[in-house]
Amino acid sequence: MSVEIAEMFRRVSHGVYVIGVAAGERRNAFTAAWVMQVSFKPLMLAVSINPGHSSYGLLKEGGRFSVAVLARDQFDLALHYGQSAGIDKLEGQAWHPSPHGVPMIDAGIAQFECVFESECTAGDHRVIVGRVIDGALLDKDKPVLIYRDTGDADGAAMFFPDDFDA
Ligand SMILES: Cc1cc2nc3c(=O)[nH]c(=O)nc-3n(C[C@H](O)[C@H](O)[C@H](O)COP(=O)(O)O)c2cc1C
Repeated sequence: MSVEIAEMFRRVSHGVYVIGVAAGERRNAFTAAWVMQVSFKPLMLAVSINPGHSSYGLLKEGGRFSVAVLARDQFDLALHYGQSAGIDKLEGQAWHPSPHGVPMIDAGIAQFECVFESECTAGDHRVIVGRVIDGALLDKDKPVLIYRDTGDADGAAMFFPDDFDA
């Protein structure tokens, strides 16, 4: 693992988000930093997800997902939803189901509901593009949580290679 390569990638700016997914009665949510707007017309967001996450199958099966933007003081939520789905991560948390059954995390500062549009493989991840069909601004004033400020909370450092051509 190259500390320098990991540090370089940490300087590619990201916020921190919670992605909600559901298929029928099964629901889950996970923390993601690799989220970005990819279109104005229609409005679209893309999420890069490890297909090994349990959320991936639910997202594909349900065909919808939500995106909650975390505030700077919500690092604890990033850690909570960053756990694997051995526990019910939504139990006791602030969320409500959208009219389509997607869990919308109410603790963030903005939230979006998306319909699955397309997917492409990006190395060991899948980039999911969703069309935004609804959303709400929950807090106009709070600053966003920045991925770099979460340190190595996701354990990403160990996945960086020693060299660029490795
Ligand atoms: C700050 C942070 C950022 C993360 N970003 C991503 C990401 O962009 N994509 C991803 O697939 N996993 C990301 N993760 C890892 C997942 O949240 C984690 O593996 C989670 O356990 C997956 O949940 P699931 O197995 O319940 O689907 C991140 C974790 C943290 C703490």
